[in-house]
Amino acid sequence: MNIRPARPEDQPGMQACNLRNLPEKLHFEILCGNVQPYMYHVMTWPGLSFVAEDQKGRIVGYILAKMDEDTKEGERSHGHVTSISVLRAYRRLGIAKKLMLQSQEAMASIYKASYVSLHVRKSNRAALGLYRDTLGSKSRILRRDTVNADGEDAYAMQLSLADL
Ligand code: ACO
Repeated sequence: MNIRPARPEDQPGMQACNLRNLPEKLHFEILCGNVQPYMYHVMTWPGLSFVAEDQKGRIVGYILAKMDEDTKEGERSHGHVTSISVLRAYRRLGIAKKLMLQSQEAMASIYKASYVSLHVRKSNRAALGLYRDTLGSKSRILRRDTVNADGEDAYAMQLSLADL
């Protein structure tokens, strides 16, 4: 398994990877129905988004990340994970953990981010396990309507990058 920085031409492979993963299908359709938001991430924050590819170069997982754009003067800058996904056949092999760690490392070293934020649905046991148990994020709950249009609650999570 090879993990490398995402390139603009990876967009179809990343999108295909996500469309097979129903929980976040809607989320990524909104994001990638238009290529612009994807290009925006990869071109504006090069080095923060990564793909995992198999021996044939097929994309089997990705992380799409950026720096927060609403940071005000005097506030700590932080990264944000917009989307992460791994094809079903490749799950529980540590790929998402590797993608997260690579992106976090880049956020801290390139952009001096002090922490990373992300949103996750309450029912997403796999993602919660990844962020909270394996990576040790601190979580707080958001208002019902903040993230998901279908009304499901979500957690806003933060993970300190101080120890990297
Ligand atoms: N149940 C419980 N915990 C899990 C599960 C699961 N099914 N899968 C992963 N974990 C947790 C475990 O703590 C695991 O550590 P362990 O294997 O040592 O027990 C840890 O996550 C790391 O597992 P990885 O193998 O690195 O995770 P994987 O490569 O399987 O990918 C992911 C996890 C990305 C959540 C995957 O299940 C997936 O693609 N799901 C569909 C898309 C999705 O929900 N993405 C996250 C949405 S939130 C967002 O994008 C910001």
